[in-house]
Amino acid sequence: MRLQNFLVLGGSGFVGRHLVAALAARGARVTVPARRRERAKELILLPTVDVQEADVKRPGVLERLTEGCDAVVNLVGILHSRRGRRSERGPNDYGPDFAHVHVELPQAIVAACRATGVKRLLHMSALGAALEAPSEYLRSKGVGEQAVLAADDLAVTVFRPSVIFGPGDSFLTLFARLARILPAIVLACPEARFQPVYVGDVVQAFLAALDEHAAFGQRYDLCGPKRYALRELVEYVCRLTGRRRAVIGLSDRLSYLQARLMEWSPGPLMTRDNYRSMQVPSVCDCAPPFGIRPAALEAVAPAYLAPAAPRYDAYRWRARRG
Ligand SMILES: NC(=O)c1ccc[n+]([C@@H]2O[C@H](COP(=O)([O-])OP(=O)(O)OC[C@H]3O[C@@H](n4cnc5c(N)ncnc54)[C@H](OP(=O)(O)O)[C@@H]3O)[C@@H](O)[C@H]2O)c1
Repeated sequence: MRLQNFLVLGGSGFVGRHLVAALAARGARVTVPARRRERAKELILLPTVDVQEADVKRPGVLERLTEGCDAVVNLVGILHSRRGRRSERGPNDYGPDFAHVHVELPQAIVAACRATGVKRLLHMSALGAALEAPSEYLRSKGVGEQAVLAADDLAVTVFRPSVIFGPGDSFLTLFARLARILPAIVLACPEARFQPVYVGDVVQAFLAALDEHAAFGQRYDLCGPKRYALRELVEYVCRLTGRRRAVIGLSDRLSYLQARLMEWSPGPLMTRDNYRSMQVPSVCDCAPPFGIRPAALEAVAPAYLAPAAPRYDAYRWRARRG
């Protein structure tokens, strides 16, 4: 049976916009709750997509949204959290925003699915998510992942991507923006390992998993074809933007210090928790699922980062997506 009615939480974000467009192209009806409707402007134009301003934290809202859906997709995620008071050390040691977004929200989504009889749930985690991971981001993602997989009365599939690239991404686009305005890039954790995966391949994995019984109760790591050190990625982005920029890699101690200083700025580019996440290589040991042949970064990135490419970062800025 082909699923037709979807609720995509986090559908207004980078991955969400690509996934919702792909679902709509298959003729599916998609509901996208957004905290601010204007942030999902480009989705509003799609005929089978209903963008609703909604606060999913409020009682009853998730139940109302899931009613009548064939499947729920959860893409909600954040990179930074306020620091909370540590009540305990261990897997539940993370800030209140991580707790809310990565743990309590997935739990509430499971409860809403049960209440309204939705059986299919696709959940986005992150590569390296684990209860014993060194960062609050990865620990809270690990707890959320465990919470949805424990719901064995639902057909749950979890995805764990490395960093995702593609038009509208924040990772490579941020470095492209910095290369345009700074004479040199001072880079924390230059040797951190990534295996970037194209957003189109992530979307393909979600679509392939939807009706695939073998994917129920499974988690899939998603990576691209090649591993890079962060320094290599940033140098590549600088070359693409056509700017000759020195990339100055910081030592481990200075990387930590830079993160510590940066986390005081509003909407920080880097925090100590990000530093800790980067201590875990974000690379895959297994082949991509569903026979996907992942696109190479070099085949995709020039189309949106080179000087003549459309400036998605400028569009995002105008839409106040940062
Ligand atoms: N992009 C990557 O490289 C990458 C790598 C590994 C894992 N992931 C995971 O993949 C998922 C999607 O990533 P993305 O890059 O698309 O992220 P994104 O562009 O930052 O989008 C995040 C989405 O979550 C929503 N959201 C954030 N906080 C929320 C809250 N408190 N309540 C309700 N909604 C909230 C945002 O809604 P608003 O529009 O209202 O802000 C947005 O729709 C996330 O779970 C992320 O952790 C991403």
